[in-house]
Amino acid sequence: MTDKKIALITGGSRGIGKACALELAKAGYNVVINYIGNDEAAAQTVAELKELGAEAYSAKFDVTNKEAVEAGVAEVMAKFGRIDVLVNNAGITRDGLFMRMSAENWEAVINTNLNSAYYVSSPVVKIMMKQRSGAIINMASISGVFGNAGQANYSAAKAGLIGMTKALAKELASRGIRVNAVAPGFIKTDMTKDLKLDGIEAHIPLKRLGEAQDIAKAVKFLALDAEYITGQVLQVDGGLVI
Ligand code: NAI
Repeated sequence: MTDKKIALITGGSRGIGKACALELAKAGYNVVINYIGNDEAAAQTVAELKELGAEAYSAKFDVTNKEAVEAGVAEVMAKFGRIDVLVNNAGITRDGLFMRMSAENWEAVINTNLNSAYYVSSPVVKIMMKQRSGAIINMASISGVFGNAGQANYSAAKAGLIGMTKALAKELASRGIRVNAVAPGFIKTDMTKDLKLDGIEAHIPLKRLGEAQDIAKAVKFLALDAEYITGQVLQVDGGLVI
């Protein structure tokens, strides 16, 4: 057990989730990163978190598996005894035009990007209600706010996450729990590395793609400093969609 506050970040071994983990560790949090695949990346992230003075470990479980999630959350409680910040960040894309979109690709994206937020938030909210404090940040996307051709599955999942954010914010405010979402634009990570984004900078008012760190700063703000903010969707997209 520890006096420090605890953050749980799904999909935290790389990309945006990793940047959020490091930012919260710098702010004095102990951090648990969940991940599914790459043991090496997870070990590297944990090492970097420890260098920042955080107690940290990686929790390998599939966020689409309710039982595995419950066991993972129970392990956090056994180790640290509380959860102060939850970042529902794990996500995938299976892009394609709707006319050709298979049920498999539809379901994979809804399960990983939306249903997972239910599976993880469900036990965590119970813990936060007992604590009478907590902050949940859901990683949405501008696709969930405005829709994106070729991403009907992803846009639906992220829009669902935004609806969940607003409903939970209303339900949980009286228990001292705030729930917000971040909607990133184009961020340089493994998720976007194969997209043809040549020339996209010209359409972004701030004239550059985002870095994972840009999102992490917004997450830290919503987690730590936004005491009077709940139910909001913070767009972090360089002004791409105004
Ligand atoms: P990424 O592909 O680098 O990271 C995704 C993470 O989610 C990985 O750590 C992966 O292991 C994890 N993950 C995937 N399926 C999982 C599962 N079933 N169980 C546990 N973990 C799982 O992508 P990136 O860019 O860091 O994305 C993070 C979040 O940000 C995602 O929700 C994504 O939709 C969102 N986002 C990203 C944008 C971008 O431009 N990169 C734009 C808007 C939103």
